[in-house]
Amino acid sequence: MRAKLVAANWKMNGSFESNRRWLSQFDAAALGCEVVVCAPCVYLAQIAEALRGTSMSAGAQNLSAEAPGAFTGEVAAEMLIDCGIRWVIVGHSERRTRHGESSGMVAAKAARAVAHGLRPIVCVGETLNEREQGRTLAVIGAQLAPVLDACAAGELVAGAIAYEPVWAIGTGKTATPEQAQEVHAAIRSLLSRHDPGAASRTRIVYGGSVTPSNASALFAQSDIDGGLIGGASLSPSDFLSICRSADRIEH
Ligand code: 13P
Repeated sequence: MRAKLVAANWKMNGSFESNRRWLSQFDAAALGCEVVVCAPCVYLAQIAEALRGTSMSAGAQNLSAEAPGAFTGEVAAEMLIDCGIRWVIVGHSERRTRHGESSGMVAAKAARAVAHGLRPIVCVGETLNEREQGRTLAVIGAQLAPVLDACAAGELVAGAIAYEPVWAIGTGKTATPEQAQEVHAAIRSLLSRHDPGAASRTRIVYGGSVTPSNASALFAQSDIDGGLIGGASLSPSDFLSICRSADRIEH
């Protein structure tokens, strides 16, 4: 059985004061799922410190593929570890499309994360156009191939793969549980071609307009092992309700 993983992606939101309020209102004590809070990098030390000794972990939203050096504005894996961070989102579609991250760059980042003991949440997902052209599984396969060249499938087991259809992110249009399950199953079968044991243990989480009202139906699908939550994670009560939905489901 795979333990459910629910990660908050706060994106470029927060302040010391609002983070402190969120942390004081979110109580993970009774939760069975694994909970990660991915905050903007200037707040990582704050979040890591606040979560020390709790069942939750702090995560970053990006890292550099490079070793420390002359890379203005970048943050190295070593620095994340130094801040007490153990998780990092890699290849979010907002970085792929707005910051020109290719699947090759995403693979290099995932490999660097793994090499430094960070657990990567590797994001993949198709655009609406790609889905309408029937290219969803081909696109996901092409996004994952360089990652599986750069990392052994077994090295991804500690992290996760997030299926985030681009058309569902921040749009209020969620993939149906059946649409998401189809892609999750395809991702697992792709992993399985590399390492069947690792494939059965890797968490594949769904992201894209997950809310307290649609989370249960998504998490009930056999290959959906939790979620990567954007907008709804900014509300501690909505995020808690989504985490509780994950807790109610075992498969
Ligand atoms: P929303 O939940 O706001 O659609 O964002 C999803 C996402 O991008 C999480 O990484």
